Amino acid sequence: MLSRPTVPLTRATRLGDETLMRLAQKYGRSAAQILIRWNIQQGTVPIPKANQRQHLEENINVFDFEIGKDDVKLLNGLNEGYSSLGYLPYI
Ligand SMILES: NC(=O)c1ccc[n+]([C@@H]2O[C@H](COP(=O)([O-])OP(=O)(O)OC[C@H]3O[C@@H](n4cnc5c(N)ncnc54)[C@H](OP(=O)(O)O)[C@@H]3O)[C@@H](O)[C@H]2O)c1
Repeated sequence: MLSRPTVPLTRATRLGDETLMRLAQKYGRSAAQILIRWNIQQGTVPIPKANQRQHLEENINVFDFEIGKDDVKLLNGLNEGYSSLGYLPYI
């Protein structure tokens, strides 16, 4: 698997995405938790940044649920090649 220097929470710019919000509601989690869990299920190690304690606690609590296969596919479809390094031509 390629190692990509992505920003796991999109720097909080896409947390309001409609699909993401729908899945968050379905799993009873926040959009951030869905993104972090998705990263983990891809076999990557997300390192989200959070200054707020509430965010930190939320981001740690992602090991007691699993996103279903069909929903993973939905999330895969949201890929915008978003990276802290800007546009990546090899993605
Ligand atoms: N940014 C770069 O230029 C850059 C470059 C190379 C590598 N990286 C690496 O990428 C990783 C993270 O990068 P990043 O900080 O740019 O982006 P990020 O982790 O995608 O997003 C951080 C933003 O998300 C917010 N957030 C965190 N948890 C949240 C939650 N549960 N709900 C809602 N919002 C939440 C944070 O807010 P609060 O802080 O207010 O909690 C912060 O505004 C780090 O490992 C970093 O070393 C970053």
